[in-house]
Amino acid sequence: MTKELVLGLDIGGTGIKAAIVNTSTGKLVTERMKVPTPQPSTPKAIIQIIKGIVQKLNWSGLIGCGFPSVIKDGVACTAANIDDSWISVNVEEFFSNELKLPVVAINDADAAGITEINFGAGVNKKGTVLLLTLGTGIGSALFIDGILVPNTELGHLIFKGTAAEKYCSNAARIAKELTYEKWGKRLNKFLLHIERVMTPHYIILGGGVSKKFNNYKEYIKTSCSVVPAITKNEAGVIGAALAAKTFYQEKKFKTQFEYKQAI
Ligand code: BGC
Repeated sequence: MTKELVLGLDIGGTGIKAAIVNTSTGKLVTERMKVPTPQPSTPKAIIQIIKGIVQKLNWSGLIGCGFPSVIKDGVACTAANIDDSWISVNVEEFFSNELKLPVVAINDADAAGITEINFGAGVNKKGTVLLLTLGTGIGSALFIDGILVPNTELGHLIFKGTAAEKYCSNAARIAKELTYEKWGKRLNKFLLHIERVMTPHYIILGGGVSKKFNNYKEYIKTSCSVVPAITKNEAGVIGAALAAKTFYQEKKFKTQFEYKQAI
């Protein structure tokens, strides 16, 4: 197995994506798999899906996992779009023990941000760069001169009397049957608020709806430039793999299943 290859997983509120990633090029080396997230999305239900993926890809190396929660030292601290029973679970230890493989877990939006900073719209962007993923929720990844400030959770800012993600995520657009104009105006209000409180140099919009950027870009009136993500659907998978590789290289890996194959 080549050292560069890492299995990337992106666990979302509605789908679980996976692929083997070449962490040097940021490219997928297998086709991206997508499986619906089981409901309820309990640890027991999700690990069954992951085991199936690992088996299908015949994978026996390092795994990077993007997870839709605040992840502090491997532990899930929140559960907005995933079953509550994940709270306080050490995702890295749980997956590692079940799979008998080394697993590194990070927040899913942070994973997508790592991809955009290294291979997408954030390449060579200095200063404050913010990636927002517009999906089931709104995830955020904040970078200062390319360095990640993890677990920012801007989608949970209280905005217009509710969590911002309930007001202008892509799921809110679909649930409330908003036209791109109506939704784009909502998104713009939120982006202006973000701009007022943190003055980013660039905002990158990710998530599936970033592919439709042309449908709503005219409603975005921020002073900073707002651009769609380049890496689209695979950003979470790639970033999770990159994070795992970096983590391993920095020798911070601490579960019992050391990644001997890579040495
Ligand atoms: C969660 C974040 C996550 C985002 C996107 C939010 O509800 O709190 O941790 O990054 O959804 O999945």
